[in-house]
Amino acid sequence: MRRKTYYPFSFAVFPDYELLSEYAASAVADCIEANPGAMICVASGSTPRLTYERLPRIIDERNTEVGTMRLLKLDEWLDLPRGSAGTCEAQLTTQLVDPLGLRSEQYIAFESDPPDAQEECDRVQMEVRRHGPIDLAVLGLGRNGHLGFNEPAPALIPGCHVALLSPESQEHPMVRGAGAPPSRGITLGIADILRARRILLLANGTEKREQVRRMVDGAVDPTFPASFLALHHAVECCIDEEAAALLDTL
Ligand code: GLP
Repeated sequence: MRRKTYYPFSFAVFPDYELLSEYAASAVADCIEANPGAMICVASGSTPRLTYERLPRIIDERNTEVGTMRLLKLDEWLDLPRGSAGTCEAQLTTQLVDPLGLRSEQYIAFESDPPDAQEECDRVQMEVRRHGPIDLAVLGLGRNGHLGFNEPAPALIPGCHVALLSPESQEHPMVRGAGAPPSRGITLGIADILRARRILLLANGTEKREQVRRMVDGAVDPTFPASFLALHHAVECCIDEEAAALLDTL
């Protein structure tokens, strides 16, 4: 791994996706080991898939106690049947909640089919307030620069909210098979994310290299929400060489 700094961002650049994922999984395990009651916020999608695959094994090997940690779902598609293929719920349950043996009170998660989406925002916001702040947030980098479903917009919303999904998000591979793609999502807000004690932003592959380059453009710009991470004091951007390709030309 090599390190690159483009103020204020610090990049850990890994030779490949496997090494990146191993590092990220160890960082999550370290956090839980140091603070067994930690609240870990997790994105879904393809980027963290291998990190989540590795995490239960590392936890098991180290014999780390997970009985008091909390797992917080970053975001969810709305108007998909609960737990159906393509939901963040399906991924997080299969990859983390079940393998780690988390009890229901340890898992704070937006439903994909709540009777009232605004009430669902209020419920999760309350839980975040009660148990927060987030100790470690594991984030992905959207193809349009979104974080969770904080979509590019003239202004960002601080707290949990219902988001109208951009065309890019509606084309996300998670929901490609879902007949009509969902038009709404539900997400933690940008302030919820920035209040995390520590953030790991993960990005891999050539399809993320332009987004990674845009992060270091210098502007904090709501039309590229990931740029707001420049305001946070403890973000580590973990990327692979493919995603770093354009950084090296700067
Ligand atoms: C999705 C999810 C985000 C995720 C991002 C990147 O829409 N809502 O939580 O971080 O987009 O996804 P991927 O890692 O598959 O590129």
